[in-house]
Amino acid sequence: MRKVLVTGGAGFIGSHVADLFLEKEWEVTIVDDLSTGRRENAPGEAKLHEISVNSPELVRLVTEQNFDVIAHLAAQIDVRKSVADPIADATINIVGTLNLMEALRAAGAGTRVVFSSTGGALYGDFTTPPNHETYPKDPESPYAIAKLSTEYYLAYFGHVHNLDSAALRFGNVYGPRQDPHGEAGVVAIFCGRILSNRPLTIFGDGLQTRDYVYVGDVAHAVYLAATEPLPPKGRLDARAFNIGTGKGTSVIEIATLLQEVAGIKVPIEFAPHRPGEQQESFVNADKARELLGWTPQVTLPEGLAMTFAWFEKQVSGVAV
Ligand SMILES: NC(=O)c1ccc[n+]([C@@H]2O[C@H](COP(=O)([O-])OP(=O)(O)OC[C@H]3O[C@@H](n4cnc5c(N)ncnc54)[C@H](O)[C@@H]3O)[C@@H](O)[C@H]2O)c1
Repeated sequence: MRKVLVTGGAGFIGSHVADLFLEKEWEVTIVDDLSTGRRENAPGEAKLHEISVNSPELVRLVTEQNFDVIAHLAAQIDVRKSVADPIADATINIVGTLNLMEALRAAGAGTRVVFSSTGGALYGDFTTPPNHETYPKDPESPYAIAKLSTEYYLAYFGHVHNLDSAALRFGNVYGPRQDPHGEAGVVAIFCGRILSNRPLTIFGDGLQTRDYVYVGDVAHAVYLAATEPLPPKGRLDARAFNIGTGKGTSVIEIATLLQEVAGIKVPIEFAPHRPGEQQESFVNADKARELLGWTPQVTLPEGLAMTFAWFEKQVSGVAV
C-alpha cells in the first residue's frame, strides 16, 4: 500500500485531498496543528497527528515513515494576518516547509512533495491574465512572498539535493468545508450570509475577477501531481503548474449565481475598495492539462450548487 502524508489534512483543501487518496486506497497520515483546521474534517480512516510542521515530531515522523508522497497543504493562509505579522507567517509558511524538506534530505527518502502555492497573489497585478507559469511574479503580501520563496527553495532542493517536488498554483478554491469566518473564501462567506438572510458585502465595484476552481478538482490535481511523471527538475517554474479554469469570474457574478442556486435573494451592499486588492486574476492551466492530464470537471454553477447544499446542511446544526 502506498503511503501519503497530508499536512493541513484537517483543513479545507487538505481534507478533500486526504479523502481522495483514501478512495484510491492509499494509507493516509495527517499532520495538522488544528490552528484553523477541524478534527471532524479529517477522515476517520486517516491517522491524525496533532503537531506543527515546525516541530521535531514532524521530523521524526517523516524520517520514520518513508512516505511515498507528502501533500503539503498546512499553512497560515490569511493574507491580512501575514501583513500584520510577517514573521509568524514566514515561520509557518517558509520555515515549516524547510523543516519538512530538511527532514527529507537527511532521511534520503525518495518522497515526492506536492506543494500548495498560489496562482493569484503570486503574479500580482503586474501581468495581464490569463497568467502563464513563466510570467513575471509580483508578490505584494508577505503571504505571497512566502509562497514564492518556498517555490524557490523547492527548486533548489530539486537541483542541488535531487529532492522530488511539484508546486501547484491554485486559483480561488471553493467548496464544502471552507471556513466562512475568514476573509479567504468569498463563496463560503456568501453562503453563510444567504442562509442567515443577511446582505452580501461587495468591496469596490464588484468587477474584480478571480479564477474559481472547485475543491474536488483541486484534490485531483494534487493526486495527479503526486503520481504522474513530472518534467525534468530545473529552476523556478520548471515543476510549477497553474490549477484553475482559465476564466475570470467577477464577485458580482458569484453573488448572482449563488442566489440563483439558493433560490434566495438578499440585498447587496457595496463597501469601499480594499487597498492592495488585485483587480483581475485568472490563470492559464494548459501545462497541467498537457503534462498531468488535469482538467477541471465541475462547472461553476454545479460547484456553487454543491457548496451551497453543503452549507445548508450544516446550518441546521452549526451557525455559519
Ligand atoms: N483556499 C484557497 O483558495 C487557496 C488558494 C491558493 C493556495 N491555497 C493554499 O492551499 C493550502 C490549504 O489551504 P486551505 O484553504 O485548505 O486552508 P485551511 O486553513 O483550511 O488549511 C490549512 C491547514 O493547515 C493547518 N496548519 C496551519 N498551520 C500549521 C502548522 N504550523 N502545522 C500544522 N498544521 C498547520 C491548519 O490547522 C489547517 O487545517 C494552503 O497552503 C494555502 O495557502 C489555498
